[in-house]
Amino acid sequence: MIVPYFDLKQQFASLREEIREALDRVCRNASFILGEEVSEFAKEFAAYSEVKHCVALNSGTSALHLALLALGVKPGDEVITTPNTFIATAEAICYAGGKPVFVDIDPRTANLDPTLIEPAITERTKAILPVHLYGRPADMDPILDLAQQHGLAVIEDACQAHGARYRGRRVGSIGHAAAFSFYPSKNLSAYGEGGALTTNDAGIAELARALRSHGQSGPYIHARIGYNYRMEGFQGAVLRVKLKRLEEWNARRKEIAALYRRALQGANLEIPSDDPRDERVYHLFVVYVERRDAVRAALEARGVHTAIHYPRPLHLQPAFTALGYGRGNFPYAERACERVLCMPFFPEMTDEQVCYAAEQLAEVVGRA
Ligand SMILES: Cc1ncc(COP(=O)(O)O)c(C=O)c1O
Repeated sequence: MIVPYFDLKQQFASLREEIREALDRVCRNASFILGEEVSEFAKEFAAYSEVKHCVALNSGTSALHLALLALGVKPGDEVITTPNTFIATAEAICYAGGKPVFVDIDPRTANLDPTLIEPAITERTKAILPVHLYGRPADMDPILDLAQQHGLAVIEDACQAHGARYRGRRVGSIGHAAAFSFYPSKNLSAYGEGGALTTNDAGIAELARALRSHGQSGPYIHARIGYNYRMEGFQGAVLRVKLKRLEEWNARRKEIAALYRRALQGANLEIPSDDPRDERVYHLFVVYVERRDAVRAALEARGVHTAIHYPRPLHLQPAFTALGYGRGNFPYAERACERVLCMPFFPEMTDEQVCYAAEQLAEVVGRA
């Protein structure tokens, strides 16, 4: 059996007519940039995320950048974040002129360890940027407490966590602002690039709306230098079709994860546990194994395709050499990157594919 790591083609087959109609609407209205499909999507995604405002953008990276700018991050400011994430999280801090300050993860969750944040706060610290990695909510309450004590902004990187809840609250509605990505591999995804900033603060939303469109405050009136970060009409139309299916897809992802967990019981690997007070979503299904690269090669030979998110923590990326970190600075993040293995995972997988992939993994790593 061949088990692909990911497959979007089956999803398109099930949506084809609706998607074609939605794209046709955009063409008939010639509303290729922003327009009604995008504004309706923004309203619908705000309602889904239980947040007052959603600003539709052209990527999750743009959403992070605008959130940092709207919250006042300026050149020289420090922003505390995790080294165990996609590079965009820390890149956006640099776009705003800020400096990423990394703090290690909690090895039980792979997310920022809140107990390590306070010692990293200096007089230059402006914000904390937790990531809800793989769809598992970061531990927000202690982060919000610290932020309040020290007068800091909190920006959620919710790019991998559409629909997750932390202690009953939707991610993306908890900090001062949040960023979502609709990159094609995400749980809610566009047919190209896409992203959104969510917030309950009308001022942040207004500023982000102006910044996404060249700083426009009125027709051809530019109050400030902005960007071209607008969402395209086609993406808004596709996202409206797909948002209606998100709960169903997230539920199927949860079922697949439960199948994996059951089939992998007793295998020589680690699967992080989830806080029962939260409703995580599954963006990826991740396990931690010793001799990861050999395990991966053995699975490949058995027809099971896997991926690594992420092979190298950000503090060891060449792009961040100037920050002055080195190996050993964040041992839990380093260890996670050495051992992480992402199994095949998408809602259209059959139970047989999941069981086959799990069985192959259990055979390769052995059972205790
Ligand atoms: C955690 C995280 N942050 C930020 C991003 C950036 O999003 P985008 O690719 O839409 O710019 C992504 C997705 O790729 C991500 O997974």
